[in-house]
Amino acid sequence: MKKYSMMTAVMMAAAALTVSAEKVASPSGLIVVDAYVADGGKPTYTVEYKGRPVIKPSHLGFELVGATSLLDKFEITGTETASSDQTWTPVWGENSTIRDNYNELLVHYKQPSTDRYVDVRFRVYDDGVGFRYEFPIDGPLGYFNIKEERTQFAMTGDHTAWWIAGDYDTQEYDYTESRLSEIRGLMDSAISSNASQTQFSPTGVQTSLQLKTDDGIYINIHEAALVDYSCMHLNLDDRNMVFESWLTPDAQGVKGRLQTPAKSPWRTLIISDDARDMLASNLILNLNDPCAYDDTSWIKPVKYVGVWWEMIAGGKQWSYTHDLPSVKLDRLDYTTTKCHGQHPANNDNVKRYIDFAAEHGFDQVLVEGWNIGWEDWFGHQKDYVFDFVTPYPDFDIDMLNRYAADKGVKLMMHHETSSAATNYERHMDAAYQLMKKYGYNAVKSGYVGNIIPYGEHHYSQWMINHYLYALKKAAGYGIMVNAHEAVRPTGLCRTYPNLVGNESARGTEYEAFAGNKPSHTTVLPFTRLQGGPMDYTPGIFEMDVTKINPQSQGHVNSTLARQLALYVTMYSPLQMAADLPEHYERFMDAFQFIKDVPVDWQKSIYLEAEPGQYITAARKDKNSDEWYVGCTSGENGHKSDIRLDFLDKGRKYEATIYADAPGAHYRDNPQAYVISRRKVDSRTRLKLYAAPGGGYAISIKPVE
Ligand code: NOJ
Ligand code: CA
Repeated sequence: MKKYSMMTAVMMAAAALTVSAEKVASPSGLIVVDAYVADGGKPTYTVEYKGRPVIKPSHLGFELVGATSLLDKFEITGTETASSDQTWTPVWGENSTIRDNYNELLVHYKQPSTDRYVDVRFRVYDDGVGFRYEFPIDGPLGYFNIKEERTQFAMTGDHTAWWIAGDYDTQEYDYTESRLSEIRGLMDSAISSNASQTQFSPTGVQTSLQLKTDDGIYINIHEAALVDYSCMHLNLDDRNMVFESWLTPDAQGVKGRLQTPAKSPWRTLIISDDARDMLASNLILNLNDPCAYDDTSWIKPVKYVGVWWEMIAGGKQWSYTHDLPSVKLDRLDYTTTKCHGQHPANNDNVKRYIDFAAEHGFDQVLVEGWNIGWEDWFGHQKDYVFDFVTPYPDFDIDMLNRYAADKGVKLMMHHETSSAATNYERHMDAAYQLMKKYGYNAVKSGYVGNIIPYGEHHYSQWMINHYLYALKKAAGYGIMVNAHEAVRPTGLCRTYPNLVGNESARGTEYEAFAGNKPSHTTVLPFTRLQGGPMDYTPGIFEMDVTKINPQSQGHVNSTLARQLALYVTMYSPLQMAADLPEHYERFMDAFQFIKDVPVDWQKSIYLEAEPGQYITAARKDKNSDEWYVGCTSGENGHKSDIRLDFLDKGRKYEATIYADAPGAHYRDNPQAYVISRRKVDSRTRLKLYAAPGGGYAISIKPVE
């Protein structure tokens, strides 16, 4: 039962009396937040971890459009405290139960000169802090427009950061590791890994941002429960080492349109002196509301293959013909237009993938390029490209879904919106109804290109509302969503667990275009994955992309063994085996790990971690006593020394170890792996080696 006690710490009877400061500590006292008004009535806070400052005095507030700012001349008129210790059960996740234990401080601010009110609610956990603005209905604030949120995070030094450039439309960047003071000088090279259209500042970065102090404290800045508000970036004042929030503008340049009562998303700080705790933290999920759905039985983790890498890496096409429809797509007569012959979403090829999925135990087969419109899908900002219901003539939607169902497999729907969000909303009911008719229960959606409505951004408030609209509407049809290019997640999958995946970072597709840094997968769990799972699409076994497309510039910067490990280190309830069936046929012994690895877990333990260097995770299957271990390493490789003391005491297990062979290297020897088997128990200590850009994967199955 909910244990919730609220007590009013200080109640002020008369306006003349004000509270100047209030402290709140985490349940075991590791973290302390101090909230007060500084000179000039500026709402201010600090954060300490184990008695050391991690956030120096930092101001809170807003600049408004056409109204007096909410930055200063405030007084605290009262505070309330509360605490909570509950355990909840996610529909899917890294752990079958999650503890949510915090102390809370609600600070009531009043700006007497305007008679307006703002509350700030702090929740202090042993693994970090969340705080948000709340705008009560009282007072004259009413409807207001945000010019800029001015939430500061004042750093205590020139920390190391793992960062990507600020951008209102994409997170598909490689991470740069540098000192804060180096961000300005490295910005150009950081953005050259992607054509940025909206990079806004030479010191602007995105969240989730991972930091490390010189004395070994890890700090992560992000946000939780981004709802009806724009996405937050951070702009660094690199003389004073102060980050300040930088919201995404809408088409009119307004950064948020609110009507009281209203609230901002939570601003989050995950803090620890052990990097493993950063990965184990559930702070962002805990700050989101409980599940909004009564019945979640239709939400199921999914392992899938797909008609995808052939186009991404193989140079084949989503489109059916090379003819450009000069008028609306429905005027192009596809029945008389010839196929260009490179259209993998055809009946025979899709059946081949269904057969492969059925033979190897995959749940679903994604098919991209099944629907008309791809002839002119990108670059022209058209509002009417796709209708999401009309298949190309060589994709028999009825036959293929029956063929799949007969084999116990489902097709996975694909809705590329080409960022015409208005068009998608107009067609959404019909699109979801078509899915229900044929038995689809999951959609991969995508937002490539500039947003329509014109001037909106992937991360502006209008689009944030669109993504949630699509998700809730999908839930009405019993459909799970995996949205690519959408805003990076903020833990909303707790409230809406049909959000089984997002891309919203640089995924495996970039290995086909240019290659990702070998350290990429040692950073993502510290950053992008803090907000929710990523459809990273691992499982590439043929790293030399020119073998399937001589024109390709790409190379997969990973060893094969590391590709296996990613199913464990990159937590997601939705995992793709992204390579071509013919590549898996060549390495069936290694492919066995992908077949075995679960996509839902009872328990997860991070054994080793350092951003940019290595991550080793162990997870116990939700539905059996099997354990799986994965390690991914960066440019330098990694020597692991791990203990299997998480296994049941006294029980015997067989471990199958899929490791980099001596001499393996992500660049020139990626397919060198060795598979070994040995008996293990809870006293076993394993010394294992991960090559540069390498890793290892282990399945551990009880033998008695
Ligand atoms: C970009 C997505 O990330 C990719 O997975 C997809 O194939 C293309 N858009 C086309 O929708
Ligand atoms: Ca993408």
